[in-house]
Amino acid sequence: MQAPEDSANSGICRPVLEVVEGIPLPSWILTNWTEIQTIQAKPDDVLIATYPKAGTTWMQEIVDLIMMNGDVQKCRRAPIFERIPFLEICSPAFQSTGVDQVKKLQSPRIIKTHLPFQKVPKSFREQNCKVIVVARNAKDNVVSYFHFHRMNQVMPEPGTWEEFLQMFIEGQISWGSWYDYNLDWWEARKKHPILFIFYEDIKENPRREILKVADFLGKTLDEKALESVVHNSLFSVMKENPMTNYTTLPYTVFNQDISKFMRKGEVGDWKNQFTVAQNEHFDKDYAEKMGKSDIVFREVL
Ligand code: A3P
Repeated sequence: MQAPEDSANSGICRPVLEVVEGIPLPSWILTNWTEIQTIQAKPDDVLIATYPKAGTTWMQEIVDLIMMNGDVQKCRRAPIFERIPFLEICSPAFQSTGVDQVKKLQSPRIIKTHLPFQKVPKSFREQNCKVIVVARNAKDNVVSYFHFHRMNQVMPEPGTWEEFLQMFIEGQISWGSWYDYNLDWWEARKKHPILFIFYEDIKENPRREILKVADFLGKTLDEKALESVVHNSLFSVMKENPMTNYTTLPYTVFNQDISKFMRKGEVGDWKNQFTVAQNEHFDKDYAEKMGKSDIVFREVL
C-alpha cells in the first residue's frame, strides 16, 4: 500500500457502505473481494485480526519488533502499513492493493485484517494459520472509531457522534457489528490457533502481554530485546515515530489536523464522550447482546 502523491486530483473521495456477504464494508473493498477471498495462504502466515481501532497498529508494531528481535532500526525500514499489509485494502488512496502487497512479502508473512473469522479467506483457515486477535472494550472502541472516521477521508461520513453511536450499536458501520466480531473470534479460538489479547491488558502490563505474543510466535527474547519491544511500542514513542503514526500519508487521506491517528491511547476515554443517557442506552443493549458470553472487557483500569 504505497501512499499516493499529495494531490487534490488524486480521485480520493469518501465511499458509501456496501453489504458484502452480510458485512457492511466501504465500497472500495468490493472491487477486490474475489482476489481477497481466493488468496493462497501459507502455513507460516500469521494474521493480526482486529475490529478497527482496537489496537491493530500497536500489535503490528509489537509483532514486527519481536520478529526483528527488538532491533528498532530494522523496524524503521518502512511505514507499518507496508511492513504488515492490510489484506482487504483496495482504495483510490493507495497505489497497490493489500493482496498485491501480501503476495510480495517474504515468509513468514504477517498480515493485518479486520474481517470476522468466518470471512477470513478460507485458505488461512485450511492452513491452520496462527492468528493474534486484539480486542478492545466497546465504549473506547466506538469513540476511537468515530474520531477516525472524522479524519480518514477514505471512510464513509460518520455523521454526528449521536448518529455514529447508534450506527455502531446497530452494526451499520464499516466491518459491521463489534459485538458479532468479538463473539465470532472468541468462539473461533476453541478450534483454531488464536491468541486472544485485550487492549486493556497490554496497557496494564505490556511486558506480560508482549511475552505472550513472543511465545505464541515461537520467539525467545533476551532481556535487552524485550526492553526494546516494550519501550518502542509505548504510545509516547509510537506517536512520534513517522513509521507508526501514519504521518507519511497525505492529508487528502488522513487529515491529522482533524484528529491524530495516534490520538489518546487510553483506557476509559469514553467517559469524555458518552452522555449519561447514551451510556445507559448502550449498557442495556450491550447486556442483551453480550450477556450470554463469558468474554470480559474492562472499560476502566
Ligand atoms: P485512540 O483513538 O483511543 O487514541 P488501530 O491501530 O486499530 O486503528 O487503533 C488505533 C487506536 O489505538 C487509537 O486509539 C490509538 O491511539 C491507539 N494506539 C495506537 N498505538 C498505541 C499504543 N502504543 N498504546 C496505546 N494505544 C495505542
